[in-house]
Amino acid sequence: MSTISIEKFIEGIPKTELHLHIEGTFEPELMFKIAKRNQKKIPYSSVSELRNAYQFKNLQEFLDIYYAGANVLTTEKDFYDLTWAYLSKVQEQNVVHVEIFFDPQTHTDRGISFETVIKGIRSALEDGKKKLGITYKLIMSYLRHLDEASAFKTLEQSLPYKDWISAVGLDSSEVGNPPSKFERVFEKSREEGFLTVAHAGEEGPAEYIWEALTLLKINRIDHGNRCLDDETLVDRLVDLQMPLTLCPLSNVELKVVADLKQHPIEKMMQKNLLVTVNSDDPAYFGGYINENYLGIAKALNLSKEQITTLVKNSFKASWLSDQEKEKRILEIDQYLKENS
Ligand code: ADE
Ligand code: ZN
Repeated sequence: MSTISIEKFIEGIPKTELHLHIEGTFEPELMFKIAKRNQKKIPYSSVSELRNAYQFKNLQEFLDIYYAGANVLTTEKDFYDLTWAYLSKVQEQNVVHVEIFFDPQTHTDRGISFETVIKGIRSALEDGKKKLGITYKLIMSYLRHLDEASAFKTLEQSLPYKDWISAVGLDSSEVGNPPSKFERVFEKSREEGFLTVAHAGEEGPAEYIWEALTLLKINRIDHGNRCLDDETLVDRLVDLQMPLTLCPLSNVELKVVADLKQHPIEKMMQKNLLVTVNSDDPAYFGGYINENYLGIAKALNLSKEQITTLVKNSFKASWLSDQEKEKRILEIDQYLKENS
């Protein structure tokens, strides 16, 4: 039996990512390259000046910069390159399966067609499966700061590509835009055969998590940190074994938690919540999935067994087939045995 460092342990373990906005993987270097070829202006003079601007007091300050960055994405090739860059990066981190979000309205509202966006992303994902061995699911997220009619229009636009999309989600500015605003469009989305997820309880109250559960009938909660404010809700989430896709570095950067030492993930594990580790918008928050695992491992002094539980939780919470899940879980148990 070999003993390896926690860094090497995290690097080597096969992982899945369940909460990742593809627009949030847009690294400044690629942003400048794509802006140049599309003759679009970025209001920063250099990569380092842009990176220095990544200091956020809250979710909204981040979203303003994130949407501005996404504005340079124009052609199918741009969406391909963005997605391919992400997949190449996480293959080095031993990610074997991804379930990623894209925000169609961020692009269709600027006159880019739904087709351009989805074809670019999808062909990179297909190439990733063939060439990098990374399987995937795609989640189309509605922007909650926009109205219900816009979400319905997006649902309509997605229908020709229904077979390429596994689920719908809900993201963007949370406070003031409760899940109830989207009850009808989620109902129609479920009728069309989509699974459903929603960001809830990131900045918004526990009440929004209740709404996501009862009105949107979600299969997973994105973030969900604020469930800890409501014991009855915690009990319900535990009973349901409802997955929560936590994003530790994002929570620090967006001031949801003061620092990683204050992150509630260990407390949530102790309560038997099905919590998972994810990177959200890695180009903006200082780290991809390994950096998220390592950050909490170090800050909270987590053991290899605890890391293994978190990784297994992610596979359990994924939409892989039961057979695939079982195979990955056995592989991970074996990895722990060989490296503990
Ligand atoms: N869009 C991209 N990242 C997000 C986050 N952390 N919360 C809400 N909407 C988002
Ligand atoms: Zn998110």
